[in-house]
Formats: sequence, C-alpha cells, structure tokens
Amino acid sequence: MPIKTTVITGATSGIGKATAMALAAQDHAVYLLVRNIIKGEAVKQEIVAQTGNKQIYVIKCDLADLQSVREAAAELSQKLMAVNILINNAGAGFSERQLSKDGFEMTFATNHLGHFLLTTSLMPLLERGQARIINVSSEGHKLGKPNFDDLQSAQSYSSFKAYGMAKLFNIYFARSLAQKFGEKGILAFSLHPGVVSSNFADKLKGFDKVLMKLAGPFMITSEQGAETSIFLATAPRLDQFNGSYFKKKKVAKTATVAQNAAAQEKLWQISDKLISKSLA
Ligand SMILES: NC(=O)c1ccc[n+]([C@@H]2O[C@H](COP(=O)([O-])OP(=O)(O)OC[C@H]3O[C@@H](n4cnc5c(N)ncnc54)[C@H](OP(=O)(O)O)[C@@H]3O)[C@@H](O)[C@H]2O)c1
Repeated sequence: MPIKTTVITGATSGIGKATAMALAAQDHAVYLLVRNIIKGEAVKQEIVAQTGNKQIYVIKCDLADLQSVREAAAELSQKLMAVNILINNAGAGFSERQLSKDGFEMTFATNHLGHFLLTTSLMPLLERGQARIINVSSEGHKLGKPNFDDLQSAQSYSSFKAYGMAKLFNIYFARSLAQKFGEKGILAFSLHPGVVSSNFADKLKGFDKVLMKLAGPFMITSEQGAETSIFLATAPRLDQFNGSYFKKKKVAKTATVAQNAAAQEKLWQISDKLISKSLA
C-alpha cells in the first residue's frame, strides 16, 4: 500500500522530475501529468529503476490546452478515490508572445490557467485526500503586477512581466485555495525553488537566455531546487502555515502586491469565467 497518492505536473525534467523521484523513493504512488507521453514514459522507467517503486503512472496533460487538462482530470477521477498531494510544478517563460490552443497568452495559460482548471476539477478527490496543494512559484513574482486590463498581454508583451504576473498568480491561487477550502482540510502553499539549473532556459531566446546564462554559476541543482516542494509534500504539522509562500523550506516574505486580497479574489473570479467561456 502506498502511503500517499501524489499528482505532479512538469515531471519530465528539472525540479519536477527530481521531486517525483524523491516522493517515489518515499513510496508515494506518483501520477506524472505530462504533455509528451514518450518523455513521460522514459521518466517513469527511470524512476521505477532508481526507486524500485512500481506505482508510477503517466497521464497526458498539456496545461496549455484546456481540453487536455479536462481529460487528465477525468482520467484521474475515474482511477482514484482520493489525491493526497497535488504539485502544480510545470512552468515556462516565453521570450515572444504566443497563444495557447484556447487563445490565451502562453505564460498565463501554462503557469496559471491550466493549473487552475486541473486543481478545481480535482477538488472532490483533493478533499477526500485531505490534500496538500503545492504551487511552484518564483521570486520572479516580484516583477509581476496583476494587470487585469491586459491579462493576455495583447496591448504590450514583455516576457519578464508576463512571467512575473503568472508566478504572482501562483501565490494568489494558493492563498485562495487555503481560504476557500481550508475548512475542508485542504492545505495550499506556494514556493520559490531557488535559481535552478534545469531545462528552463532552453526555450528562451535573446536577452532572456543571456540573463539565465549569466546566472549559471550561481545556480543550484534540480535536486536542491526540489527540496522545498518535497518538504511541503511530506513535513508534518504545516496547518498553521496554510496559504503561505516558502523559500528554503521556510515561510518567506512575498512582494506587497502578493498580499492584495482584492486582486487575489478577482483572479479567482476571472479564471473561473475564462474556464467556463472556453466550454461555450
Ligand atoms: N529554474 C529556475 O531557476 C526556476 C526558478 C523559479 C521558479 N521556477 C519554476 O519551477 C518550475 C519547474 O521549472 P524547471 O526549472 O524545472 O523547468 P524545466 O526543466 O523547463 O521543466 C518544466 C516542466 O514543465 C513542463 N511543461 C512546460 N509547459 C507545459 C505544458 N504546456 N503542459 C504540461 N507541462 C508543461 C515541461 O515539460 P516538457 O519536458 O514537455 O518541456 C517540464 O516538465 C516552473 O514552474 C518554473 O516557473 C524555476
């Protein structure tokens, strides 16, 4: 019997893969939600070989495609009674403005909206599992503002601003989950993993790539970057920190804008509307 059932996005590389590996080594049944099944199956084989844990499963989920997210949530709901840990880890930055399949700006779609739909769709399972929901945010949130007038960066696009806003939304979303579902036994957190040498910079171009290269010598490994996610997934007695933002396994200060309760609630309402509209 596994001790916990964990669902994780973005486990095909970097921090997510290191997190999945560590939780598999602690006997969790781990569901890898991946956009690339071939990559996902290869990571599964690696985890099984390294940990001996055979309860590793791959499920297709492209976070930038809401239908794909709906299908992943439906498959999980069919297979599982409960989920104990959901790690919203997948993320990306985009040097140029791109649109998701549903017409949303890619940074917003991948980092926030897909995870919003996944999490809210899995809520019955999460409640049954008295789950911890862990959003991998970033100190980059400090560059972000909740620009509700141009959420899709249609008027002007900056990769830094779009990424900063999406990572700010990861913090808002964790806080909202803690507030809305805390009484039902849900704990939700956000975190900064550190500046990690992963595949993150590979997809960037131009100035963004140069900046990531400059940070190279100061970067930590993916295994080190996974430590706070693993801590939040496994440490006992975190109830008093529900909704908090963590760094290096400790509660950390966010930017003041991340404490804007009105913006936090507005994000929830807008995300909910966008999801419903995408069904129409
Ligand atoms: N690296 C850093 O210094 C740093 C710092 C702060 C925060 N973070 C955050 O840490 C998280 C993990 O990043 P990482 O550094 O480990 O980067 P990474 O190595 O590039 O891993 C990103 C993961 O997200 C997946 N992903 C991207 N777009 C997706 C989509 N549309 N649908 C499903 N999965 C998707 C990728 O899948 P593929 O393998 O298919 O590409 C990959 O598994 C991100 O949320 C990032 O914002 C990273």
